[in-house]
Amino acid sequence: MKNSDKTESASPYILPSLPYADNALAPVISANTIGFHYGKHHKGYVDNLNKLTAGTEYANLPLEKIITATAGKADKTAIFNNAAQTWNHTFYWRSLKPKGGGEPPAVLKQTIEASFGALDACKKELAAAALAQFGSGWVWLVLDGDKLKVVKTGNADVPLTTGTKPLLTIDVWEHAYYLDYQNRRADYVSAVLDKLINWDFAAENLR
Ligand SMILES: [Fe+2]
Repeated sequence: MKNSDKTESASPYILPSLPYADNALAPVISANTIGFHYGKHHKGYVDNLNKLTAGTEYANLPLEKIITATAGKADKTAIFNNAAQTWNHTFYWRSLKPKGGGEPPAVLKQTIEASFGALDACKKELAAAALAQFGSGWVWLVLDGDKLKVVKTGNADVPLTTGTKPLLTIDVWEHAYYLDYQNRRADYVSAVLDKLINWDFAAENLR
């Protein structure tokens, strides 16, 4: 039994399928962007993670465990970065959906209103954090205790390491938007919030 258990949990880590077709987010995010972002960048993080963890104490660990075990350790930066970027991207694809945006499910909407006053204020805070993030990074809606918050992280960093629970994320690395929007990060973020953001996914994570 032990051997079969081990086989099931062993690396290599697998690039998860996209939850929609590569052209399903167009015109907000083109199939061309998805081709590079998912097919090259996300795949690259998974491939690097497999190379870096092969034969190490991390090889059989769930992704979240690798992330929390290597966060802040200077000699484990490469493993952390590739594990976190693998996790972040899978979470990002699920934070978007074709015909997203609109109104969140009732329970999430009430929690948003209790934390930000109104849905629009929450969206404005997400957009402002996305613009305030200098260089590469991520903007997140997180559950901190019983309140929702907007946080931003640099490079590969993820709120999992700070004890808050991510509900959704937007990738603000240039590779997420440059082909479609060039340097207009604000236009990308506002289009994502209005047309693609997956409030159902955030509501599921609230449970
Ligand atoms: Fe990305």
